[in-house]
Amino acid sequence: MNNSLAKSYKGILSVALVIFCVSFSYSQKKSSVDSIQIKVESLLKKMTLEEKVGQMNQYTGFWEVTGPAPKEGNAKLKYEHLRKGMVGSLLNVEGTTNVRKLQEIVVKESRLGIPLLFGFDVIHGHKTLSPIPLGESASWDLDAIEKSARAAAVEASAVGINWTFAPMVDITRDARWGRVMEGAGEDPYLGSKIGIARVHGFQGDDLSASTSIIACAKHFAGYGFVEAGREYNTVDVGTSTLYNIILPPFKAVVDNNVRTVMNSFNVLNGIPSTGNKFLQRDILKNKWHFDGFVISDWASGAEMIQHGFAKDLKQAAQIAANAGSDMDMESYAYVNYLKQLVEEGKVDIKVVDDAVRRVLRVKFELGLFDNPYKYCDAKREKETIDHPNRAAVLDIAKKSIVLLKNESNILPLNKNQQSIAVIGSLANDKNSPLGNWRLGSVDSTAVSFLEGFSKYNANYKYAKGTNLAIGKTAFGSDIEINETDTSEFVEAINLAKQSQMVIMVLGEHSHQSGEARSRTKIGLPGVQQQLLEAVYKVNKNIVLVLMNGRPLAIPWAAEHIPAILETWELGTETGNAIASVLFGDYNPSGKLPMTFPRSVGQCPIYYNHYNTGRPSPKGEVFWSHYIDESVKPLYPFGYGLSYTKFEYSNLTIDSSNAKNIKVSATITNNGNRVGEEVAQLYIHQSVASVVRPVKELKGFEKFSLKPNESKTITFTLTDKELGFYDNEGNYVVEPGDFDVMIGTSSQEGLVGSFTKK
Ligand code: BGC
Repeated sequence: MNNSLAKSYKGILSVALVIFCVSFSYSQKKSSVDSIQIKVESLLKKMTLEEKVGQMNQYTGFWEVTGPAPKEGNAKLKYEHLRKGMVGSLLNVEGTTNVRKLQEIVVKESRLGIPLLFGFDVIHGHKTLSPIPLGESASWDLDAIEKSARAAAVEASAVGINWTFAPMVDITRDARWGRVMEGAGEDPYLGSKIGIARVHGFQGDDLSASTSIIACAKHFAGYGFVEAGREYNTVDVGTSTLYNIILPPFKAVVDNNVRTVMNSFNVLNGIPSTGNKFLQRDILKNKWHFDGFVISDWASGAEMIQHGFAKDLKQAAQIAANAGSDMDMESYAYVNYLKQLVEEGKVDIKVVDDAVRRVLRVKFELGLFDNPYKYCDAKREKETIDHPNRAAVLDIAKKSIVLLKNESNILPLNKNQQSIAVIGSLANDKNSPLGNWRLGSVDSTAVSFLEGFSKYNANYKYAKGTNLAIGKTAFGSDIEINETDTSEFVEAINLAKQSQMVIMVLGEHSHQSGEARSRTKIGLPGVQQQLLEAVYKVNKNIVLVLMNGRPLAIPWAAEHIPAILETWELGTETGNAIASVLFGDYNPSGKLPMTFPRSVGQCPIYYNHYNTGRPSPKGEVFWSHYIDESVKPLYPFGYGLSYTKFEYSNLTIDSSNAKNIKVSATITNNGNRVGEEVAQLYIHQSVASVVRPVKELKGFEKFSLKPNESKTITFTLTDKELGFYDNEGNYVVEPGDFDVMIGTSSQEGLVGSFTKK
C-alpha cells in the first residue's frame, strides 16, 4: 500500500469509527430515553386521577418534620396528602433526616410510592456562599461560575435537596428592581452563557449522580421588566424586546437541558405568566421542544384572581393547567380543583397526563425511583458541611470584583503602609456581605472586610462612622436604614485626619436588594453619602469599597474619590477576596454586567438600546436628552479596570466567507503586572427590517497576559450571531452593512465595518 492510500484507508476507518461511536452513543442515549418513557407510561397507567394531580402539587415544608408543630399552612393536612400520594414535591425542607423522613412517608405509605422532589432556593450557594449572582456575572468567567454552581450543588445535594430554583435568567435593565442581584444583568448574550454555565454546574454531566440537582430557569417571562422597577408590577413589552432580549437566555438553557422552568408573578402584555399559553405551550413546549416541566411561582396561580384573570381558585387552576403550568407551588389550586375540573371536562385528561409525564420523567432521570434516599446520606452530609469548598467561592469572589476608578494608581495598597483608617459599618459586618437569598446559610458567617484586611495590614484603625441599619421596618421592609443619626461622624473624621489613607466601606444592607426590595433612591443609602463627603473634606486620599446588590448612582463619588472598588455582596469569603485585590495579590478583572446610571431618573438605562431619530446634540434643544442630566451612564456595561494596562491594536476583518466572518484584534499587556482581560466583541447592523440596537455583545474571551505579552483574539461571526428575531418571532439573517468593535468595554474599543453578502 502506498503512503497516500494508507492515509486514505486510515481516514475511512476513522470516519467509520466516528460514525459507529456517534450512532452507538446516540442509540444508547435514545434507548435510555426510551426506557424512561416506557417506565413513565407504565406508571402513569397505574395512577388514579387524584394521584396524577398529586404529582402536580407542591407544598412548602416549613413545619417540623418530626412532630406536628405547624408554623405555616395546615401540617396535618399536608401529612395526610403525602400519605395519599397527593404531593409531588416539597420546597424548603433540608437536612438528610428531615428529607428521609418525608420521603419515607410517600415511598412506604402512599399507594404507588412515587418519590418526592425536594426544591430549595439555592441561589448563590447553599450554606457556603458565593457572590450574589449579579456579582458572579461581573467575573465573565464561565468556568469559575460553573464551578461555583457545582460547589452549591454538592452542598445542597448533601443536605437532601435535589432541585434548585436557579438560575434566574431574567434580563434586567432597571437598577430600582431589587431582584437585579439575582440575575446576570442586562445583556442576553452574556446572560445566556452564564445561564448555561450555571445549569451545567447544578445538573452536572449525569443527572443520576448523587451530587447532581436539577436546575430551574426562572421567571418565565418578562419579570425583569416590571414597570418602574417596582416589584411584582405589570410588564408591557414589545415583541422585539420579548424575542430578542427576554427569551434568548431561556431558550439557551432549554437547549442545554435545563430540567425545569418557573413561570413568573407578572402580567405580560395583559396575560399573567402562569396562565399564559402563548409562553408556556406555544413557545416553550411546542417551539422549543422543552421536555422538562414548568413550576408556578409561589402561589402565582392563585394570584391570577388578584390580577383579574380568574374569578376564583377553581378557574385559576383551569387556566393555569390548560396554559401549561405543570406544577402548582403553594396555591392549593390543583390539589383542590383539578380532579373536579377534569371530571367536568374543563381540563382535558391529556393536559394532566402530559404534565405528570414531565414530572415523572425528571424523577426517573434523577434516579429517584432506583434510590429515593440517594440524597439522604448523613455521613456525606456531615463531611460536606464540615469541609465546604471554600476555594471555589473564594476564587469567584475575587473574580467578581470590579475596579471602577484608580486615579494615580492609588491601588494596590502597600502591605507595609502605616496609618490607614477604615471607616464604615459594613467593614465590620459579617452578615450583610452574604447578600440576600441565603436560606440555607447561617447569619453572620462571612469573613468580614476587617477580618480579611487585618491579615495583610494590622496597622489600621477603625471607626464605623455610622450605623447603616438601625432597626426594622420602614415602608414594609425588614430593615430600617439610618437616615438621620450622624453622632458617629466625629470619631471617623478625626481618625481620617490623622491617617495617611482612608478606606471607606459603604453601600447597601443585604436586605435592600432581592425579592420585594425595590428602591426609588439608588445612591448610597442613609447618611453614608454625607459621611463620605465629610471625610473627604479632611482627607482626599480615599479608597471607596462598595458593597451593594444593584448598580448604584454615585456621581459625586465617581467625580471626587480617587479609587473605587465594586465588591457587590461577595458571600462567605468576602473579606479575604477584597483584601487580596486591595493589596494586589489578585489583579482585578471584573467587568460590569449592568450599566451604572448617573441618576435614578435615567433608569432603565442599558447599552444595547436603539438609536432615536434625534441622537446627537448639535447644540440644539430638540434632540433626545434630559435637560438636567447627561444621557451617558456613570459606568457602562462591560467596564472594569485592571492594575495593568491593556492595549488593543490591529483590528482585522475577513468577511470573504459570509457564513463565517472573522474579526480579530491583538491585545497587549503594557503594564507591569500579570492581569486578566475580557475582550468583548460588539456588532451593529446599520439597516435592517427591524431596527437594531446601537451595539450588541456577540462574543467575549477572558485571558491572562504577562507584562509585555500579546495575544491575538479571533471571533467568528456566523448567522447565529448576525441574525435577530423579527416581530413574529422568526429568526432572520439579513445581508447588509455591519459595524463591529472589539474592546475593553461596551464604550471603548477598535471599530471597523464589513458587508455581509
Ligand atoms: C420567588 C421564586 C422562588 C420561590 C420559592 C418566590 O417568591 O419569586 O423565585 O423560587 O419564591 O421560594
